[in-house]
Amino acid sequence: STSVEKTLLSVLRTIPDYPKPGVQFRDITTLLGDASAFRRAVDELVHPYAGQKIDKVAGIEARGFILGGAMAHQLSAGFVPIRKKGKLPYDTVRVAYSLEYGIDEMEMHRDAVTPGQRVMLVDDLIATGGTAEAAVKLLRQMGADIVAACFVIDLPDLGGRKKLEALDVPVRTLISFEGD
Ligand code: PRP
Ligand code: MG
Repeated sequence: STSVEKTLLSVLRTIPDYPKPGVQFRDITTLLGDASAFRRAVDELVHPYAGQKIDKVAGIEARGFILGGAMAHQLSAGFVPIRKKGKLPYDTVRVAYSLEYGIDEMEMHRDAVTPGQRVMLVDDLIATGGTAEAAVKLLRQMGADIVAACFVIDLPDLGGRKKLEALDVPVRTLISFEGD
């Protein structure tokens, strides 16, 4: 494995059977709490885009806010929160997405991006890709040009990366766990 994968493996914590039996919860709080690992992860996520003009980083609630704020600072970009429904005070666009049980909705302020703006999307983890797909729909509805979607962790068996790539969204992930 590469040096970034080694770093991440040493700082990510896996909780067996959380939140329910059979699930291995990949916990990034231990990464966030490690000063050099947090910096390294953010650096690695933005590295390919550092020379490009990025207008906005869009972070998905809640862990995508932490990574996205740091990435926006590094790229000298603005930050856009994509939130679960009912949390944003101004006019919003809304998209439904499937969860393991039932559906939920994601929202973004209507004026958060303007047509043609170059946006990077970020979250801690991609599994089925349902959450990220909803975020892609919201951003595109407002005319954003999605440069890439970035995640620290990929669970490739659940197909999220392929789902985004089929929507012509380039995907960047730092480490993948197969068999999850
Ligand atoms: C987790 C994770 C991603 C999403 C990925 O969030 O942080 O946002 O699931 O799953 P998907 O690719 O199958 O859509 P969760 O829904 O647990 O909410 P939280 O981040 O607010 O805890
Ligand atoms: Mg989440």
